[in-house]
Amino acid sequence: MKHLNNILIIGIILIVVIVAVLVLERLKTERTETALSHGGTPYNLVTTFKGDAGTSRAFTWYTKDPAAAGWLEVVKGDEAAFEGASVIKVQAADATFKTDKGKRGIHKAEVSGLEAGTVYTYRAGSGKEGEWTAAASFTTMESDMDQVTFINVTDSQGEKAADFAVWGQTLNRAVETFPAAQFIVHNGDFAEKAEDSTGWNRFFSNVTSLVARIPLMPVTGNHDEVEEQAAGFTSHFNVPDNGAKGSIAGTTYSFDYGPVHITVLNTESNLSKQAEWLKKDLAGTDQAWKIVAMHRPVYGGNRYKKVEDWAHIFDKYEVDLVLQGHNHEYSRSHPLLNGKIVTGSKKPAGTARGTVYVVTNASGNKFNAKKEDQFYHAVHFQNNKAMFAGVSVRGKMLTYEAYDVDGKRLDLFTLTH
Ligand SMILES: [Fe+2]
Repeated sequence: MKHLNNILIIGIILIVVIVAVLVLERLKTERTETALSHGGTPYNLVTTFKGDAGTSRAFTWYTKDPAAAGWLEVVKGDEAAFEGASVIKVQAADATFKTDKGKRGIHKAEVSGLEAGTVYTYRAGSGKEGEWTAAASFTTMESDMDQVTFINVTDSQGEKAADFAVWGQTLNRAVETFPAAQFIVHNGDFAEKAEDSTGWNRFFSNVTSLVARIPLMPVTGNHDEVEEQAAGFTSHFNVPDNGAKGSIAGTTYSFDYGPVHITVLNTESNLSKQAEWLKKDLAGTDQAWKIVAMHRPVYGGNRYKKVEDWAHIFDKYEVDLVLQGHNHEYSRSHPLLNGKIVTGSKKPAGTARGTVYVVTNASGNKFNAKKEDQFYHAVHFQNNKAMFAGVSVRGKMLTYEAYDVDGKRLDLFTLTH
C-alpha cells in the first residue's frame, strides 16, 4: 500500500513539473512576441540588395498591426538626424500576411538614387511618433569596385530559443572575423518550420543590428519552400525581381557586387525552366567571377540528382564556386569539370579550371552524421559545431576561409584566374 502511495506521489510531482515547464515555455514565447512587436513598430527588419548596390538599398520589416503604414527615412552621413528637407522619405509597399499567430503587416521598401561609396543612416517605421526602429547605417558600393568580401552561412534551421542563440553567435563571430564583409549569403533552411513565426522572430532578433546594416541575401531551402509554398520565407526579403519565369517570386535572382556575379537558384521547384534562365543569366554577365548559391548540393555530402543538369551549365559558363547547404556537415570538393577532378597539370591560366562546391556545415544547432566520403571530396568532416565562411575576391584571386563558431579556422583555399 505504502509502495503504491509513493508511486502516486511521484507521479503527481512529475505531472506538476511537466505542466510548469510547458506553461513557462509558453509564457517565454508570448513575452518574445510582445517585446518584438506592438502596433506599427517594425520588427524583423532586414536589408538586402534589390537594384544596383552602388546607388540603392532595399529593406523589409513586419508590423504587428496589419494596417500600419510603412515608411523609410534616409539621410546622408552617419548621424541620425531625420529632420529637414534633406531627409529622403520612401513609402514602402505594404501588404498583409497571415501567420500562425495572426495577421501581420509586411513592408518592403527600396531607396534609390544614392551616391556610390557613401554612408547613409536610416530608420523604418509607421510614420507615427514612437513607432520607428533604431537608426542604422550602411555604405553604398564604391564605383568601379574591384574587390569584395562576403560571408556565407547556411541552415540556421532552429526551433527553440537556444538553437537561434547559436545562430546569433555564429553570425556575430562571422562579422567579427570579416568586419569588412559587404553582404551575407544564407544558403537556406532559416527555421525548421517556415510557418513558425516564433522561429522567424528568433532568427531576426538574434542578429538585429547586423542585418539592419549588412544585406542578407537569402537562398530557398526545403524547409523554406514546402509543396511549392514559400510565402513565409519570401515575405521576409526584398530581393531583385530578375528571376526565372515559373519560379516563386523571390526564390531565384542574381546580383553583382564588385567583380562577382552571384546567381541564386531554387532547388525546390521549377527546375527545368530555371536551367534555361540560368544559362541566360550566366551568358549575360561579363563579371570576372561567377558564383552560384543553391540549397541542395550537386556535389556535397551527397548529391541531389534532380539538379545534376545544372552542373553542365556551371561547367559551360565556368562558374568558379558553388555555395550549397542542406547536408549539415562540412564538405569541399576538388575543382570539378564534366564530373571529373581537374588536376593540377590542367590548371594553367586560359584553360578550364573547374568549379569548387562547398557546404559550410550549419550555422545553427542541428548537425547530421557525416556522410560517406566521395571521390570529389577534397575536405569532408563533421565537427558538430556551427560554422561560417568568408569569401574574398582581390583581382585574380578568390580566397575562401571556413571557421567554426569559436573562431577556429578549419579550411582555406584559393582559386586563381
Ligand atoms: Fe537543412
